[in-house]
Order: sequence, then C-alpha cells, then structure tokens
Amino acid sequence: MIYISELKTQQGKEVTLKGWVINKRSSKGIEFIILRDGTGFVQCIVDIQTVGEELFDVARRLTQESSVELTGKVVKDERQIGGNELQVTNLKVIHQNENDYPITNKAHGVEFLMNKRHLWLRSKKQWAIMRVRNSIIYAIHNFFQKQGFMQMDAPIFTGNAVEGTTTLFATEFYDRPAYLTQSGQLYGEAMAIAMGRIYTFGPTFRAEKSKTRRHLSEFWMIEPEMAFFNNEMNMDLIQSFIKHVVKEVLERCSLELETLNRDTSILQKVISEDFPRITYDEAVEILNGKKEINGITSIDLLNKDKKELEEKIEITKKEIQERENILSDTNLKQGKRNFIQNKLDAFKNDLKNLEEKLSHIPEYIESTQNFKYGEDFGGADETVLTRMFSLPIMVYNWPKDIKAFYMKRVEDNDNLVKGVDVLAPEGFGEIVGGSERETDLDVLLDRINSHNLPPEVFDWYLDLRKYGSVPHSGFGLGLERFVSWLTNTKHIRETIPFPRMYGRLNP
Ligand code: 4AD
Ligand code: MG
Repeated sequence: MIYISELKTQQGKEVTLKGWVINKRSSKGIEFIILRDGTGFVQCIVDIQTVGEELFDVARRLTQESSVELTGKVVKDERQIGGNELQVTNLKVIHQNENDYPITNKAHGVEFLMNKRHLWLRSKKQWAIMRVRNSIIYAIHNFFQKQGFMQMDAPIFTGNAVEGTTTLFATEFYDRPAYLTQSGQLYGEAMAIAMGRIYTFGPTFRAEKSKTRRHLSEFWMIEPEMAFFNNEMNMDLIQSFIKHVVKEVLERCSLELETLNRDTSILQKVISEDFPRITYDEAVEILNGKKEINGITSIDLLNKDKKELEEKIEITKKEIQERENILSDTNLKQGKRNFIQNKLDAFKNDLKNLEEKLSHIPEYIESTQNFKYGEDFGGADETVLTRMFSLPIMVYNWPKDIKAFYMKRVEDNDNLVKGVDVLAPEGFGEIVGGSERETDLDVLLDRINSHNLPPEVFDWYLDLRKYGSVPHSGFGLGLERFVSWLTNTKHIRETIPFPRMYGRLNP
C-alpha cells in the first residue's frame, strides 16, 4: 500500500491508495475526488472514458467521508497541493455513507464542531495542527535525548500540591484523599538528583473554573530538571530548546504551516536571534512606559500600532468597495465573478482581523497604564511586553509572593525569587514557567508553611535537601500553548485531540 505522502516518489507509476473522500466535484464525464489518507490530500480524477460507465456511476454516487480504495496513475501537477494527482483506473468502495455527514463546507459554530470533535479531527485544519503537534513532540524527545537527558515518568496520583492549592483536582486513592498532578516537578527533582538530567513528559491537571483561550483542565507538560544548573544555565537551555523545536517544525511542517496560512516570519526570527532576557522590574518599567525598547515606549508603540491599523482598515474598506462595485455588474462572466468573489472574501476576512486587533488596543493601553508592581502579568500585559521585541522574551527574578514555594531566593533581595517565564510573541503569552530551586531546608519549610501547605506530605521532598543537596533548576513547557503559538491557533481547544476544559468532558 502507498500513502499520499509518498506520491512524489511514484510519478508515472500505478498505485493503490486507501482513504476517505473529503470533497467531490463533477464536470461532464469527469469526477474530481479529493482523497485524504491521514498523510496528506490528493486530487483523483475519474474519467468515464477510462473507467467505463459502471465504475463512473459508483464514483458519482460517492458521498463525503465515504471510504474508498482508488487505483490509478500518479501524474505530476504542480498546481495541486502536494504536487500530484491520481488518474483513476479502478475504484472500490469500502464503506458508502448516507449523504448526511454532519460537517459540511458551510461555516459551523464552534460549539457544534466541539460536540463533533471525533469527526472534526478529520478536517484539513485539524489535520495540520495535529501534524505540527506530532512534529513538536518528536523534536522535543530528539533534543533532550541527543543531549543525554533521560526521560522519566512522574506519577499522576499524588498527595502533593505543586502550583498552589486553588487549581487542584481532588480525587480518591482507595481510602485516602489524593490529587491529580498539577506538575511532575517535585518528582522530577528527585529523579534529577538520581540521574543527573531528566525530563518528564506527561499529562497534568488544573481545575480552572473559567473558559479562557489559554487554559485546559488536562494538558501535557514537558518538564526537564537538571542537577548542577543555576537559573542562567536554565535560561540558556530553554532558549536552545525552543529554537531547536521551532527549526524542526519549520523544516518538517512546511505544508502544514502553509495549510494553516501561518506567517512564518517571526518563527524565522526566533531561530536566528537571542531571546531578550529582562527582569520582572524591567518588565514593569516597560509596561508603565518608563523604559524605552529600540527607542520607543510601550504607550507610543501601541498608539503607533493603532494608527497603522486604522490606516490599513481604511485601505481594506476601499478594496472591498471596489470589488463590490465590480460584482454589481450583472453581465460579469462566471469565471471572473468567482475570482473577484474570492478576493472580496479574502479582504473581508482581513478587515475582520484588523478590526479585531484594533479593538484590543484600548485594553492594552489601559493595562500598561494601570499595571502595579507586584502583580502577575495578565494576557494583555504579556501581549504588550512581547510586542516590544517581536520575539519570545524571558522574564526572570520575580516577586516571591506571586510565585511557587520552591523557587530559590535571589541572593541580595529576599523579596525576589529566581523564576523565569517565557512569553511567546503574537499574543500567545506564557508558554514556559521555570526556576532555580530552593535548596535551604529552613527556607523551604518556611515557604511551605507560609503557602499553607501541609508539611508532612513534603517529607520525602525535603530529604532531597538533606542528602547530597545540589543547586538545580528546571522548567515546564505547556505543550498545547506551544502548539497554539507555532500553528497560530487562537484557542487552545484545537491543539489537543480531545480537549478537557471547564464545561467539556465529551466526546
Ligand atoms: O508555570 P507553571 O505553572 O509551572 C509549573 O508547573 C512548574 N512546576 C514547571 C517546572 O518548573 N517544572 O506551568 C508551566 C507551563 C505554563 O507556562 C503553561 O505553558 C502551561 O504549563 N500551563 C497550562 N497550559 C494549558 N492549560 C493550563 N491550565 C495551564 N497551566 C499551565
Ligand atoms: Mg507559570
């Protein structure tokens, strides 16, 4: 059996493909079938002259998502996605659907699509996102394994809160209360002291009782933990890790990124430039408009963006008006009409995006002006900060009150801890959270108490500071946040096959 992704090596040969009909169009004596098989998409031509009337009739009656086996000659055609088409000589139906496949070409609401997630996954956009997700996972393992990190698994049932107590999913473990893990980190620390450099890669759980575009209740996290690493080494690793994965995705997923209309200019920049590293204090100054980056303050840059957007909107409105005028001519030929209509739709889509961007600017300006030292950054603050650089940025040395109990104090400032967050550009926000870990037993106990955590369940964790304690650091990358950013998918629900989030347990 041959897969669609292999067709470029099969030009001129006869092959058999097995897959599903995503779309079909008819013209005199010819059926154009778009076939998918999971590895790609290809146009298949069924010509009545070649296959005869009987088979042609079978092709004509094929319905959306029916499964078929198609045999034919592979012919190069640069205009087609994938660069080939199949000139069908034989055709076998594996399963013929009733003509009622729920997801059609018309626009569906997102709730409808979420309820049909088991079918929605078959669509081209979801195909592309899942393929990028797969390549990201591959590149992650690749990166760590090549450097000699060991992959180890943390338990999912746990007695420990890691990232605060408000997002814990409580469950039962036989007769005892337990939680679903928020992060494998504490176990990762034990494993790093045993093995040197490790990474965990597993599902993690957070009860987030609100619907946001960045939060899932169940998400996958990659958590490296390294003995003898301080936070600078941690940041170096984060940067080379992200660069590696982005580079791999650009190389392996060009077709998928094209399918998603992903503008790759920022991603190209990501692999060639260093990520700015700024302290929390500097970040606040930037937000408040007290510190210039590349000669401009945040407020001035936002006002400049606003003006540019307004100008672009005016131009786009003119383009739309022009096309509408052309289309009002009733004598227009059908070919030309379709061409203009497509352009018009594209401009309308641009207009929608531009207007949406513009509508957020007042909120950004407000966030910059009202941000108070000591607060955590919200989505708008993160968007403004990364906008200043058009690159992922690393914010480090955070106020201890807004960070987890395990982060190491900054030597000369008891109010700050050695945490680092990576904020992705283009409005995608925090994708990585990490830190150097506190090693002082007394300070740790103190933090556990002041965070109102039960000290007895941390006994084992504190052992790590009693026996062979060493400086160590690590971080956690949220897989779905990363997929969202690289695929430019605004809402995180589309980046995991079956999302679990507030209000969504089915399918
Ligand atoms: O910043 P967080 O909470 O850090 C930790 O869990 C550390 N224990 C990691 C470590 O140092 N080993 O979470 C890490 C990342 C975030 O930056 C974000 O990408 C993702 O996990 N994340 C979520 N992704 C989707 N939905 C949620 N509800 C998420 N919460 C965190
Ligand atoms: Mg965080």
